[in-house]
Amino acid sequence: MSAVTREFRELYGYLPEGVWAAPGRVNLIGEHTDYNDGFVLPFALPQRTEVAAARRGDGILRLHSADAPSGAVSLDVAGLDPARPPQGAASWSAYPAGVAWALLDAGLPIGGGADLLVRSEVPTGAGLSSSAALEVAVGLALADLYGLATTRPELAALARRAENAYVGVPCGVMDQMASACAIEGHALHLDTRSLEQRHVPFDCAAQGLRLLVIDTRVKHALADGAYAQRRASCHEAAAALGVPALRDLPYAGLEQALASLADPVHRKRVRHVVTENERVARIVELLRSGALREAGPLLTEGHVSLRDDYEVSCPELDLAVAAATAAGAYGSRMTGGGFGGSALALIDADAEPEVGRAVTGAFRGAGYAPPRITTAAPSAGAVRLR
Ligand code: GLA
Repeated sequence: MSAVTREFRELYGYLPEGVWAAPGRVNLIGEHTDYNDGFVLPFALPQRTEVAAARRGDGILRLHSADAPSGAVSLDVAGLDPARPPQGAASWSAYPAGVAWALLDAGLPIGGGADLLVRSEVPTGAGLSSSAALEVAVGLALADLYGLATTRPELAALARRAENAYVGVPCGVMDQMASACAIEGHALHLDTRSLEQRHVPFDCAAQGLRLLVIDTRVKHALADGAYAQRRASCHEAAAALGVPALRDLPYAGLEQALASLADPVHRKRVRHVVTENERVARIVELLRSGALREAGPLLTEGHVSLRDDYEVSCPELDLAVAAATAAGAYGSRMTGGGFGGSALALIDADAEPEVGRAVTGAFRGAGYAPPRITTAAPSAGAVRLR
């Protein structure tokens, strides 16, 4: 019996009907493009969030997290209200409760309620989408338990809606799509407008390469307004340029578009988004042709763009990138929303100890807390485990 099944039985006094799991993600390239209807290229992490669950019949949703000491949270499904999400020590439960609310709000019948126990291996605040992992695992569990006819992209969209409207974080759809739809050994090339997905083979090991994930352990807070500001700036710039979204600006027309923008901040944001969409397309081609090493400089270029034009990096992320590239990484960049969280570095497989030491040494030298360095192989999206 798995740990999460045993814990469920200890807590609720009976066995769950099933166990579901959904992973965190790393975004290889395509940052801050998803809310501009653009392109992204994330892949799923091996670390995931498990949910053991069973239906109830009385309209109560009981939520328990093995990682939060707040005890069980008990909510009335019919009373779930985005104006009153759980607060304080129970704030983690806004994610699963939000998913239940989003399913109901979409007319999907989960009204009988459920008992849920969640346990996660995805680090929180590391820019690795622990929230999406939790939302997608819960969404899949409820959809399966209640026999709902929802597709993975629909579930991802509902999970995102939960985060936007119930939790109050104005994220795009990348993280939930990666968690719900990724497949092992592949990156997910996603058009965030149409949700059309292509699975691009991404096998570092076969080419003697490895991807390091360097968690700076600086906690980001997307809800703190900077993310929403970036989003608003992009929408203003799109309106000023007369396009539905920045995705509609072709790379070839960038200089002309920039010249017609009066606001210097808009110019920087637009330059990042348009060049980033182009980097996604180029890296997809390199992956397809097996020229992974050549993607390195584009990753680093993406970091510079996020640092200087989009202004969402931080000194710890910049140092991780500088130290990794100085130690021989082919390329390195911050990944995720920014303002902290993780950087990734593409390295030769046998360079792992050396690059790790260089980054850790640089952090020590700067007086920063030691980073947490792991490697990541593209893993499977959400699954039913039992
Ligand atoms: C966060 C959001 C995503 C995306 C990234 C930036 O991870 O949740 O939707 O906008 O930031 O690329």
